[in-house]
Amino acid sequence: MTTAEHTITGREDDGDGARRRAGDMRARVAELLAAREEAVAGPSARATRAQHERGRLTVRERLDLLFDPGTFTEVEQLRRHQSTGFGLEDRRPATDGVVTGWGEVGGRTVFAYAHDFRVFGGSLGRAHAEKIHKIMDLAESAGAPLVGLSDGAGARIQEGVTALAGYGGIFRRNVRASGVIPQISVILGPCAGGAAYSPALTDVVFMVRGISQMYVTGPDVVQAVTGETMTHEGLGGAQVHGAVSGAASVVCDDEAECLQEVRYLLSLLPSNNRELPPVAATGDPPDRRCEALLDLVPTETGRSYDMRAVIEEVVDRGELFELHASWATNVLCVLARLDGHVVGVVANQPLSMAGALDIHASEKAARFVQMCDAFSIPIVTLVDVPGFLPGTRQEHGGIIRHGAKLLYAYCDATVPRVQVILRKAYGGAYIVMDSRSIGCDLSLAWPTNEIAVMGAEGAANVVFRREIAAAPDPEAARAQRVKQYREELIHPYYAAERGLVDDVIDPADTRAALVRALAMLRAKHAALPSRKHGNPPT
Ligand code: HXC
Repeated sequence: MTTAEHTITGREDDGDGARRRAGDMRARVAELLAAREEAVAGPSARATRAQHERGRLTVRERLDLLFDPGTFTEVEQLRRHQSTGFGLEDRRPATDGVVTGWGEVGGRTVFAYAHDFRVFGGSLGRAHAEKIHKIMDLAESAGAPLVGLSDGAGARIQEGVTALAGYGGIFRRNVRASGVIPQISVILGPCAGGAAYSPALTDVVFMVRGISQMYVTGPDVVQAVTGETMTHEGLGGAQVHGAVSGAASVVCDDEAECLQEVRYLLSLLPSNNRELPPVAATGDPPDRRCEALLDLVPTETGRSYDMRAVIEEVVDRGELFELHASWATNVLCVLARLDGHVVGVVANQPLSMAGALDIHASEKAARFVQMCDAFSIPIVTLVDVPGFLPGTRQEHGGIIRHGAKLLYAYCDATVPRVQVILRKAYGGAYIVMDSRSIGCDLSLAWPTNEIAVMGAEGAANVVFRREIAAAPDPEAARAQRVKQYREELIHPYYAAERGLVDDVIDPADTRAALVRALAMLRAKHAALPSRKHGNPPT
């Protein structure tokens, strides 16, 4: 055997030599890992103190709150930018201002990226963007949700067009993953410029009062262009986006509560569009009678009540996850469980604008229906609607276009769909609120239902106007026609007799009826005609 062969097989080294070399290896690895620790030691204590003084948590404190303890695995912690110019060559901190990785939330895999405001203000340069692209690609291939924690100053000014292109890569991936994996945006600081379009492309956007700000052009630009003086909060704070623009789906009081809510939302969503949402035993009996509903809902159709209380009474343990609680309040969109299975509930809210549908309500409900359909969440629609809100503001604002979004979303949805009509359902709004004619699988109605083209008074005035005017006693003639219309066309069994309502149920049995209907529909398979995609109204 030659010397070379000895070296290859290592036979002669068994014993002391091998142990010595292993010792060398341990020392060398320890030395190299120490250098790694030094490299990733993170921003200075001063930067951390400044972040806390801004009233905000650091990126790692946030990730600790989001993930199950000890489950977060970071990738590309050693990544640094390779840019030069404007002093960048002298500052090349590890992470490049964004922490990316995966961990577990409630024992299920979730991916995340989180800007670190302590590094270049969390601004996005090329390396930073490529880290986000990589984690987005991984989330999509692994079929697991992606959570983005935003706390950054937007495109890194020193990196010019490569920073802008980095955003383009995020937007493209947001759209590609839309309806494939749940994407959740959590705004925990500034989210300025084009950066704000990424959250807008995702499924649910969280903001925190006094912490989050989101705008396409900041207060300085607004002042320069329009002369308007504005604070960051007044221009794009959580309150503004939660109640006025509708850009925030959920508004929380502090970061800890916010990240807890993100965890709760994730517990209601499937990991991807090939799975069903997780089932959880809630202990709430499926056939529980809901007697309280008879006290909650007044018989007079003109009197309001809180539909949220109705939903709480019907769903498991009264637990809801509500989206857009302060925006377009005339319609409610909530996720909840029925017999442990996740459902999306769309409901008119008589407490706000008498529950009439308008532009914002149509947009809000349409997006919710789309999200439920994308993630295999059955939809329950609770109807008590006087119609679409009339008026020039609505017409000129495009109610036709926006109302059509809701119609389109329902017609396109292939998940199980059950409609329950509590009291009134008039005109186009009846059709849009998932009527049988647009494809709900089952339509149930309370005995108090009134379904018609319009109310009896209005109908009599249109159809019998001439007859009423010519009558010796017009008021008596009108009253007679109103009574007749009511008795013949709006009686509780009119729609059921025509197959447009499948059953008239005791309100106290609403929960049990929904549980039975959704169990029957669990294996529903419905498909749309083959096409590239539809052309929904926008
Ligand atoms: C590089 C930036 C930066 C940026 C801030 N910093 N913005 N570095 N690129 N865009 C740095 C600061 O120099 C500072 O560094 C640190 O981040 C913290 O910033 P401060 O201003 O001290 O913090 P604060 O007072 O809290 O104000 C935060 C802020 C403000 C509101 C975000 O910095 C700001 O308005 N920045 C500009 C935001 C912006 O216009 N971004 C571009 C948007 S356009 P040091 O070293 O001092 O700590 C865009 C296009 C995307 O994003 C297009 C996609 C299609």
